[in-house]
Amino acid sequence: MATPATIVILYYSRSGSTQQLADAIANGVRKTGAEPLLRTIDSDDDAASSRDLVIANTDLADCDGLIMGSPTRFGHMASGLQKFWEQTSREWLRGVLVDKPAAAFTSSSSMHGGQESTLLSMLVPLLHHGMLVLGIPYTEPELQQTTAGGTPYGASHVEHAAGSRLSKHELSLAEELGSRVARTALRLAAQKETKSL
Ligand SMILES: Cc1cc2nc3c(=O)[nH]c(=O)nc-3n(C[C@H](O)[C@H](O)[C@H](O)COP(=O)(O)O)c2cc1C
Repeated sequence: MATPATIVILYYSRSGSTQQLADAIANGVRKTGAEPLLRTIDSDDDAASSRDLVIANTDLADCDGLIMGSPTRFGHMASGLQKFWEQTSREWLRGVLVDKPAAAFTSSSSMHGGQESTLLSMLVPLLHHGMLVLGIPYTEPELQQTTAGGTPYGASHVEHAAGSRLSKHELSLAEELGSRVARTALRLAAQKETKSL
């Protein structure tokens, strides 16, 4: 049977924290029966993680949803991700991402070091591409309980020390964000199928 929905998880990670979030989000996607496609960007940074394949522009047309993650870089997404979006004019003109669900995630070293502005900076190109942007609702109890990352604007991790693991609240909020985007993609796909019958 064909996979009902593919969710691209596009991220850049230099020292592994954003990658931990990407993996938690991928687990959340899998829990719904959808398939996560972990992809990174072409980076001239030798230290960047090269575990996952570099994203191809065709992945944008082929996916049913997209979740994007970056380390917080002076309160903004990393420049390599911005560069990737600046190379998607063709996809933007064709509207390949229009009406597909989307979300964002980030990791920073400090608690008030700009996670929210970074998350919002990632949502901007997704909105220009016509995506349906999702966050994390306060009906998720961990959003009230967390003393580290996890925001209504997207999933996050506060690193404090390099290589620190996600807290249990950060982990669960990241998984829930993955599930939420995937559930939305599956619902939209089911609606489309009903209409075409
Ligand atoms: C150039 C640069 C800028 C950064 N800017 C910030 C920042 O504005 N706020 C912050 O808290 N951390 C900042 N950091 C730290 C990273 O966001 C943090 O270490 C992050 O968890 C790294 O993610 P990664 O392990 O996925 O690479 C910066 C790091 C670098 C290299």
